[in-house]
Amino acid sequence: MRIIFVIAAALALAPALGFGGVYILSEARFRDVKRGPAFDHPIPTDAASIERGRHIARTRGCFGCHGQNLEGKNFDEQWDWPERAVAPNLAEYARKHDPAAMEAAIRQGIGANGKALTAMPSFNFTRLTDEDVAALIAFLRAAPVADSSVPKPKLGWAVRWSFITGAERHMAYWAQRVPPLRIDAEQEPVLAAGEYLAMTMCNECHGLDVRGQTLFPPPTPDLAIAAAIPRDDFENIIETGVGMGGRNLGLMRLVSPDRFPALSDDEVDALHAYLSSRADEPVPENVFWRPE
Ligand code: HEC
Ligand code: HEC
Repeated sequence: MRIIFVIAAALALAPALGFGGVYILSEARFRDVKRGPAFDHPIPTDAASIERGRHIARTRGCFGCHGQNLEGKNFDEQWDWPERAVAPNLAEYARKHDPAAMEAAIRQGIGANGKALTAMPSFNFTRLTDEDVAALIAFLRAAPVADSSVPKPKLGWAVRWSFITGAERHMAYWAQRVPPLRIDAEQEPVLAAGEYLAMTMCNECHGLDVRGQTLFPPPTPDLAIAAAIPRDDFENIIETGVGMGGRNLGLMRLVSPDRFPALSDDEVDALHAYLSSRADEPVPENVFWRPE
């Protein structure tokens, strides 16, 4: 009799223990972050810096994901992952959090609650300079706070499980693996400017080193293909997300028109020159975003 009771109790508790375990282990993953030194760069208040911040926000896609009025966005309908991703109201966030918390979210993939972010592509912003992060924060602080209410984000159990097994990695993990910028701006100013743009705009989807990504579908090409694309065709592709031969580039078509038409001619020149210059260099092997 007693043994039956014990078995019944174990069966009844198993799901609760299982979910509890998944919860605890996945939370431990999200708290497993290495935080860099607190950001203490002064935040400017002049009009030129705020305008620079707006340009960074536009070309790096903050508006597309956080809303054209920075009001926040519920991704429920676009993404079924990680159950419910919600980008917060950024102008409001900028009033409530200090620059160190904002920098940690933007460049390091660590949220104000101390846990790694899961949906915001912070690794795409890791190489932004201190000046540009400060300008971005200045812009967000100065932007009017739009009225909005977004629901709370949710992490699904299957998603939590995939973080425990290592099938998924959080943004603080990715952010730490972005290769450093290599080109000396004193010696090669145009190529350095192009590298900076590529490594803070295109590595969201084209691999952390922009030499192609095969980790997630759809695989994206090595951007050294720019060498084979005339400069004006290249500009057209990145501003529309429509590729060679009129091909719809999918995810790129969704984000490009919102971000890249704001690039100046000089920026497009630099980006094209830098990416083209990669064509002679071998593609780095043994990186996790291009397993082979
Ligand atoms: C691809 C969509 C996407 C882009 C692009 C994006 N964000 Fe986010 N952001 C999110 C989501 C989703 C969250 C909620 C946290 C999460 O789920 O990772 C978020 C969270 C944040 C947070 C709050 C972090 C916290 O919880 O404390 C800040 C600050 C932020 N984003 C700033 C920015 C800035 C600045 C930019 C532009 C440089 C930007 N984001 C671009 C999707 C995006
Ligand atoms: C949000 C994801 C995303 C971002 C950001 C992104 N791309 Fe793409 N890109 C893609 C996808 C997806 C494809 C198409 C893959 C396929 O189906 O072959 C693509 C294809 C391309 C192609 C090939 C076009 C063709 O005709 O085949 C070029 C060139 C390109 N991207 C350049 C860039 C540059 C330069 C940047 C940065 C300014 C950039 N992309 C940023 C997702 C992205």
